[in-house]
Amino acid sequence: MGKRLKDCTAIITGGSRGQGAAEARRFVEEGAFVVIADVLDSEGQALAQELGDSATFQHLDVTDEDNWAATIGRLTDEGRAIDVLVNNAGILLFDRLTRSSREDFERVMEVNCTGVFLGMQAVADEMKKQQSGSIVNISSVAGLQGVGFQFSYSVSKWAVRGMTKSAAHELARDNIRVNSVHPGLIETAMLDQFPDNLQPKVESFVPMRRSAEAAEVAELVLWLASKESSYCTGAEFVVDGGLSIG
Ligand SMILES: NC(=O)c1ccc[n+]([C@@H]2O[C@H](COP(=O)([O-])OP(=O)(O)OC[C@H]3O[C@@H](n4cnc5c(N)ncnc54)[C@H](O)[C@@H]3O)[C@@H](O)[C@H]2O)c1
Repeated sequence: MGKRLKDCTAIITGGSRGQGAAEARRFVEEGAFVVIADVLDSEGQALAQELGDSATFQHLDVTDEDNWAATIGRLTDEGRAIDVLVNNAGILLFDRLTRSSREDFERVMEVNCTGVFLGMQAVADEMKKQQSGSIVNISSVAGLQGVGFQFSYSVSKWAVRGMTKSAAHELARDNIRVNSVHPGLIETAMLDQFPDNLQPKVESFVPMRRSAEAAEVAELVLWLASKESSYCTGAEFVVDGGLSIG
C-alpha cells in the first residue's frame, strides 16, 4: 500500500461506479479512508465491501441538503476529519438550446451544478476548522468549450469551472484548495449514452485516437487530492488525450 493519502478521509460522490469507483480504489491503495457516496446503493455497497475497512458506503443524493448533512454528521460523529471531497457525481444529456425543455435543463443543472455547490458548502466549515482540505470538482472538456449537442451539460460543466475558481478564491486563506478536472472521453457507462450514430466516430475526434480508462483520470484526481499539489488552487486540469486542443 502507498502512503500518498495516509490518514486522509475522502468523500467521493458518484463513487459507486465509473470514474468515482476508480478513484475510490486508487485512494484506498494510497492509504485513505473513502466514503463512497451515491444514489446507486447496491453497487456502492458491493464496492465498499470489496475495499474492506478502508471504505464505507453512504447513500447521498447530491441535490439533497439533508443527505449532505447526514454524511458530514456521520463522519464528525466518528471523529473523522474531512480531508478531501471529490465532487464527481454527474449526469449527461444530449439536447440542444432549441430542442431542450426547462425541466431537462433544470435537472442537469440541479445534479451537476447545484450538487457541487451543496457539496462544497457542506464540507467548508469542517475544512476551515482543520485549516486544510482539498476539493476536486469534476467538470469536463464540455466546460472548456461550447458543445451544441450537449447544451445543458456543457452549461453545467462551465458552471462547475466557475464555481471552482470563486470557491478557491474564498477558501484559500483557510488552506483549502479547490481545483477542477476536465476529462475527455472516458470509458464508463456515461459513454454508452452517446447515440449509435456517434459511437463509432467518437475516438476519431481525439488526437490520441483513443478513449481513456477511468483509472487514468484517477491518477490526476489522486495527485490533486494529495499534498503533492499543495500550491495548486483555482486551476483547471485537463485529461483528454488532446480532445480540447481544437
Ligand atoms: N465518461 C466521460 O466520458 C466523462 C467525460 C467528462 C466528464 N465526465 C464526468 O465525470 C463524472 C463521472 O462520470 P462517469 O464517467 O464515471 O459516469 P457514470 O455515469 O458511470 O457515473 C456517474 C455517477 O454519478 C452518480 N450520480 C448521478 N446522479 C447522482 C446524484 N443525484 N447523487 C449522487 N450520485 C449521483 C451515478 O449514480 C453514478 O454512479 C461526471 O461528473 C461526468 O459528467 C465524464
